[in-house]
Amino acid sequence: MNLNDARTLARDLDAKDPLASLRSHFDIPEGTFYFDGNSLGPLTFRSREVLHRTIEFEWRERLIRSWNEDWLAMPARVGNLIAPIIGAAQDTVICADNTSINLHKALMAAVALRKDRSEIVVDINNFPSDIYIAQSVARQHHMKLVAVPADEIIGAINTNTAVVTATHVDYRSAQILDVEGITKVTHSHGALMVWDLAHTAGAVPFEAAALDVDFAVGCGYKYLNGGPGAPAFIYVAPRLLEESDQPLQGWWAHAVPFEFEVGFRPAEGISRFLTGTANVLSMKSLEAALEVFDSISLGKLREKSMGLSTLFIDLFDAHLAAKGFTLESPRNPVSRGSHVALGFSDGKALVEAMSAEGIIADFRPPNLMRFGFAPLYNSHEDVVTLVERLSAY
Ligand SMILES: Cc1ncc(COP(=O)(O)O)c(C=O)c1O
Repeated sequence: MNLNDARTLARDLDAKDPLASLRSHFDIPEGTFYFDGNSLGPLTFRSREVLHRTIEFEWRERLIRSWNEDWLAMPARVGNLIAPIIGAAQDTVICADNTSINLHKALMAAVALRKDRSEIVVDINNFPSDIYIAQSVARQHHMKLVAVPADEIIGAINTNTAVVTATHVDYRSAQILDVEGITKVTHSHGALMVWDLAHTAGAVPFEAAALDVDFAVGCGYKYLNGGPGAPAFIYVAPRLLEESDQPLQGWWAHAVPFEFEVGFRPAEGISRFLTGTANVLSMKSLEAALEVFDSISLGKLREKSMGLSTLFIDLFDAHLAAKGFTLESPRNPVSRGSHVALGFSDGKALVEAMSAEGIIADFRPPNLMRFGFAPLYNSHEDVVTLVERLSAY
């Protein structure tokens, strides 16, 4: 299909898209084509409005009274907004810290629950921060870190395994891992599973409760659009909560923080995974951005995400494959998250050149260009514009 025909088709698909109106929630600058929601979601009008009110009213006028009037409840409240997005029950998710810290808490809690075991299994292609955190947990507990590619995880699990950790959607290739299979084998060997949902939450449905996963963590600033440095989240299966101990037992994790007791007593429930004071402004921004999820079906979101990335791959076949670009993501949409990676020897220079023109993607060494197709605000016509620009290189 030539690109003119592709544009006509894309306009037709956009006209029929039941999610098309959601783009109006996002303040994307005129003339900017944004394909990096897998790294930083764009500003929502609601975040700006809510931040303004928080600053002018809750902070300036209400001052410290706002803690009791609103802010203390935020980690649990925002956790409950994220819960349905990852298939978790209410009061099993809390919003706090960043993904790396939450992963540390989850791995340390898991290892403490499996003290008699000696190994941690990690996906060797996981996001580096996840590997660094797993290394530090292994070092502190004198355990062996078994780092293997995703398709070897199942074979690496045995009765020495305390905990397995991997990212549901691979940050480079967007490959979706076999959550059900890996979690089942982990459990069949008596080990615990920690999933990283950084590239999942807000774009790919997940079933934390139905799949019986033990722990999950993820980002607030990617497909959840919370803003730069927005806090992350942590999920803990209710069956583990009461016996789970996390290492960063700050005062917000205490049963009665405002009694200022000298001894630590963990809060009941998911609050025991908090540490210290919430980052109010960032959490407010995230809370406001999550409103867009109120009215939509995650199934429809996934359908559109697959449609956008499939259109991109079809146009890659027709216009980019012969120009030295290679497809580095799964062809089967069911196995693919919401971004597509292309290999290209001049990828870094091309991403930079496009960015200067307002077509924003990202680059991961050595040669990967990543294009995030966020179903909340990207259109089919955006995809055609992107391919047109890439093919002109
Ligand atoms: C898969 C994955 N895990 C963890 C992180 C790190 O998140 P944070 O910087 O919030 O700790 C990222 C960041 O991009 C990521 O992509």
